[in-house]
Amino acid sequence: MLNRNQVRKMKEDNNKIAMITSYDYPSALMAEKSGADMILVGDSLGMVVLGYDSTIPVTIADMIHHSKAVRRGAPDTFTVVDMPFMSYHISMDDSLSNAKRLYQESGAEALKLEGSGEVFEVMNRLTHAGIPVVGHLGLTPQSVNVLGGYRVQGKDRQTAEKLLADAKAAEAAGAVALVLECIPKELAELITKQLTIPTIGIGAGQACDGQVLVYHDVLKYGSERLPKFVKPYFDGDRWMGEAVQSYVNEVKSGAFPEEKHSFTMDASVLADLRG
Ligand code: KIV
Ligand code: NA
Repeated sequence: MLNRNQVRKMKEDNNKIAMITSYDYPSALMAEKSGADMILVGDSLGMVVLGYDSTIPVTIADMIHHSKAVRRGAPDTFTVVDMPFMSYHISMDDSLSNAKRLYQESGAEALKLEGSGEVFEVMNRLTHAGIPVVGHLGLTPQSVNVLGGYRVQGKDRQTAEKLLADAKAAEAAGAVALVLECIPKELAELITKQLTIPTIGIGAGQACDGQVLVYHDVLKYGSERLPKFVKPYFDGDRWMGEAVQSYVNEVKSGAFPEEKHSFTMDASVLADLRG
């Protein structure tokens, strides 16, 4: 299992960090088996697993429920769990007790928090309390309604300068790694070079120290439209869809189950039953 020093060393050694999201036991098993360095139990679960149209409705209870399943499938992979919408904004007390509950009950190695400003104070307090944190800047989906949609961030000088300063502030607040979502590759490269902690990009180009993608996007499963930054490695909607369709068709036609799928009983027992 990676620890924070090894995470930092991966950056120094130019060892790319492969991170993928997981939300349940089989996806976690698969992530661990494929040697992913890190698993993210993302609040994207609200969209790809629970069918909400944003991450805003996701609760701490949802995150704990899914994290526990992930942990059972991937006990030996460094697992990061997202703090969900508004669970780290109301007050420092509320943020700390939410983090305590999520960290203890999920069994994760680290918690991820989106955003800047007062969030850095929470990250600092959590680090001091012994909870490793991961930052998340750029497109921060919990703020989609403030950002005005899912769009690339940091394209102009002012927002790019702010992102660079925020990235340094996240490192200063104790973050073990920083997720950069949907920012120009040039800005991601600049940030990556100026930080000692690894950057993990999603839609942030090739220069980041690692990459993260959503499990369902990698498999193209349940996603109506994939963002530009996703590379699907499978056509789950097609192949899984065809499998389920074949099953339904075969039940209706009587082609399934076949003899080999059936159990038998002794003829004498059957004779007794028939009387
Ligand atoms: O919830 C999530 O899946 C994420 C990644 C996209 C970074 O936060
Ligand atoms: Na997230």
